[in-house]
Amino acid sequence: MSINLPSRLLVVLFTVCFKTAASYSNGKVTDACSRMEPNHGQHSSTKPNTYTITVDKSKFGPGDQIKVTLSASESTYFKGFLIEARDAEHPDAGAVGSFTLLNSTVSQLLKCGHAQGSAVSHTSGSKKRQVQVFWIPPDSALLHVQFLVTVVQKYKVYWVKIPGPVVSQAGVSPGPPHPTHATAETTKPAVLLGPFSSEACGIRKSCLRNPVACDPERDPLCFFLSFATEGQSTLFELSGPGNGYIAFALSLDKWMGNDDVYLCVRDGNRVEIDAAYVTGRTHPVPASESVLTETAWRLSDGVIQCRFRRSIHIPQDRSRFGLNGSYYLFMAHGRAEYGMVHRHDRQPLISSVQKVITGPPQNLSGSRSPLLIKFHGVFMLIAWMATVSTGIIVARYFKDDWPDRALFGQRVWFQVHRALMLLAVLLSSVGFILPFIYRGGWSHSAGAHPYLGCTVMALAVIQPLMAVLRPPPDSTRRYIFNWIHMGAGTIAEIIAVIAVFLGIHQQALLLPGPWSTSVLAGFIVWGVVAQLVLEFHSQGLFKSGNGDSEDEIMSASSDISSVGSRFKKVVLAVFVSGNVGLLGALLYSISSV
Ligand SMILES: *[C@@H]1O[C@H](CO)[C@@H](O)[C@H](O)[C@H]1NC(C)=O
Ligand SMILES: *[C@@H]1O[C@H](CO)[C@@H](O)[C@H](O)[C@H]1NC(C)=O
Ligand SMILES: *[C@@H]1O[C@H](CO)[C@@H](O)[C@H](O)[C@H]1NC(C)=O
Repeated sequence: MSINLPSRLLVVLFTVCFKTAASYSNGKVTDACSRMEPNHGQHSSTKPNTYTITVDKSKFGPGDQIKVTLSASESTYFKGFLIEARDAEHPDAGAVGSFTLLNSTVSQLLKCGHAQGSAVSHTSGSKKRQVQVFWIPPDSALLHVQFLVTVVQKYKVYWVKIPGPVVSQAGVSPGPPHPTHATAETTKPAVLLGPFSSEACGIRKSCLRNPVACDPERDPLCFFLSFATEGQSTLFELSGPGNGYIAFALSLDKWMGNDDVYLCVRDGNRVEIDAAYVTGRTHPVPASESVLTETAWRLSDGVIQCRFRRSIHIPQDRSRFGLNGSYYLFMAHGRAEYGMVHRHDRQPLISSVQKVITGPPQNLSGSRSPLLIKFHGVFMLIAWMATVSTGIIVARYFKDDWPDRALFGQRVWFQVHRALMLLAVLLSSVGFILPFIYRGGWSHSAGAHPYLGCTVMALAVIQPLMAVLRPPPDSTRRYIFNWIHMGAGTIAEIIAVIAVFLGIHQQALLLPGPWSTSVLAGFIVWGVVAQLVLEFHSQGLFKSGNGDSEDEIMSASSDISSVGSRFKKVVLAVFVSGNVGLLGALLYSISSV
């Protein structure tokens, strides 16, 4: 007897591609009897399967046999399978009854447990569309039996324990739902076929999105929460990028704690959908009872998606808020290990207003940055990036300008310098307090930023005190003051700039990526260029004239100095305008995070 060519090819393919599976393509899978799990190193597929399991009758009596059909829908097929019958009340107790074959070319009997023929499997890895077998009930008094089937479409794609029909002993009513079937229907979530859509946002459902108005269908980085109330229940959809979990909470305030939380946690190739409750900044406590229905999920391209329905009122569970109330919505995401969630990666997105969940559909907006922290950023940027740098330039290069004019009885440069620096100290002091108010203490997760901030604040307070106590201009010790004042001011400015760079990367005020860093760098370059131009100018590098005769210079010197002064004022004006422009760009970016 010769083996034909296609079979040979198949054998070669199987030994080459599926070496470890080679022994199983013959279907002798008795070690899969109890868990019905092929040893292919994968998880049961999360996609909907295209297989149906049917029986020719739903009742059985002594000596009966039931014809069981496993078939693939059009244009699909399967290579391997394992069919068992289980006691519907005790599905984990092993296979019951026995099978007889209808076609031994495609199917074979296995001995699972003690009973010969208690399971059926494939004989080869050929592509099959349909398999039929007979099942014979056991002698013991079983009331309800369910058929379970594992189907291998190809090596890496398979479905474990697809629940089949339930058959009952004749004379026994189908009765209350038996455990396996109930489990399959209420807690086994369905699989979503595609991403959520933002199309009906503001029309048939309320949506909270980040970035603003993003579309989860097109943008895999879109964090999306929607809810729509129908009758006595609300359907929630949640999706966002991540490998761990995504979650949302209903909260009565903008602080975390005492919130009603809903988590979609990735566990391997599955997603668990749970309600939970958080007290304070602790780990969420899962709800004891499942209150969510119509659960469904999908994992694709690094996006976690889940959907569920819950009743507006759940009186038996005090931790589930009534959806007719008005709440801030929190959206968070983070890492998860073995289905356990870690602290969220980024500051949660918090809706800007409270929303009645059952209220009319609305497009909601939210922010990841608390208002106090935004103001902290605004005050510090105005103080250190705009005010201080201008004050320094005025003191360094404009002492001799406006010689004949006084401002409130003092020289102009001095008044401008003092006013700018006092404004900076004032803004810094207010800005300094805000994070402490927000955190209720030290910001432990902010790294070096608060330490640098405190150093700058200390220097900023010392400077005006030192200035008040400075020796008079003609004192021999005046130069000491001048050096210390300039040194401390320069050090404060440098540390402040580092603190600002660290600040815009804090979770509580995360400005958009390389863009904000470039603007900040532009700020510094701009300041340095202005200072260099003024420095070169003060060294006389820009002065024209070839010094032909001393008289000429003497007569022209007042002209030159007035031209020079005008030049410096233009530089100052250009510097300040650019500075204000860059500041405006950063403030705008703060307002929109
Ligand atoms: C058994 O299945 C094989 C492969 O599908 C088929 O060629 C053969 O005709 C079947 N035999 C019977 C008796 O149905
Ligand atoms: C809400 O968002 C959707 C989708 O982005 C948009 O089509 C709709 O016009 C928005 N509605 C309002 C009132 O802004
Ligand atoms: C929500 O509904 C419950 C029960 O119907 C009611 O007791 C409660 O006052 C309602 N709350 C609001 C804010 O309307």
